[in-house]
Amino acid sequence: MTKLAKPFLGFGLGLRANHYEEVLQTKPKVDWFEIITENYLVPGGKPLYYLDKIREHYPMVMHGVSLSIGSTDPLDKNYLKSVKKLANRVQPQWISDHLCWTGVNNNNNHDLLPLPYTEDAIGHISNRIIEVQDFLGQQILIENVSSYLTYKDSIMTEWDFINEILSRSGCLLLLDVNNVYVSSVNHQFNPLDYINALPSDKICQIHLAGHLNKGNYIIDTHDHEIIDAVWRLYEKTIKAHGMISTMIERDDNIPPLSELLEELTKAKKIANKTNRGKSILIIGKSK
Ligand SMILES: [Fe+2]
Repeated sequence: MTKLAKPFLGFGLGLRANHYEEVLQTKPKVDWFEIITENYLVPGGKPLYYLDKIREHYPMVMHGVSLSIGSTDPLDKNYLKSVKKLANRVQPQWISDHLCWTGVNNNNNHDLLPLPYTEDAIGHISNRIIEVQDFLGQQILIENVSSYLTYKDSIMTEWDFINEILSRSGCLLLLDVNNVYVSSVNHQFNPLDYINALPSDKICQIHLAGHLNKGNYIIDTHDHEIIDAVWRLYEKTIKAHGMISTMIERDDNIPPLSELLEELTKAKKIANKTNRGKSILIIGKSK
């Protein structure tokens, strides 16, 4: 398995169908785009047409939602083959998916479900990540998900669980700062304990997003603008770990592109101000 260089890409957006034409026509100042892998696992059609056109002008990364790395079902080799085929077409800087399970017995419920933080789960998931990386021929990134429940079998914190998987599998982390915040409210922990415990050299990308606050709990809906508390947590993340490729996720209630560009400018200002004078972290290339 080859460890690819993971350059600092700058500040990106999720590519959404509502913005295809505008992106192509206006070439907005976005450093890179993240695509949802599953939207392009088809032989043809409009999404692939726009993907190819937009790829000519922007670097891209691929972000999947169907790997189900925590499931006890065997890995879906047909799915992995189609991911590899798309990667050959897109030539992404990297490929990511979520640290979760999405179903068992071949049922996909399309939810990113949390895992029990146990030794058995660490071993099971690390082995599966190694298998995926061997199949794809490159390191992958796993993303921390937000959660609404915990398991009585868990024997460690979420951050200890993640750190152990990163260490054993050799994969990298896509750190969703909003997900850390959402889970910290839902499960009553200090989000800085989580952020500060992560290894700087393994964080390859950051997600920022909005959510829905229901009072005594938060739902990770990606349909609102980013709230101030998440911006502050992002600032502290950059302070702790240095500059990291950052991207804004909006999956519902999608606003005009100009609004997302404003949020992206805010992310850039916060990161540049926080990281002033420090070097940019580039995860090195090695075999
Ligand atoms: Fe995310």
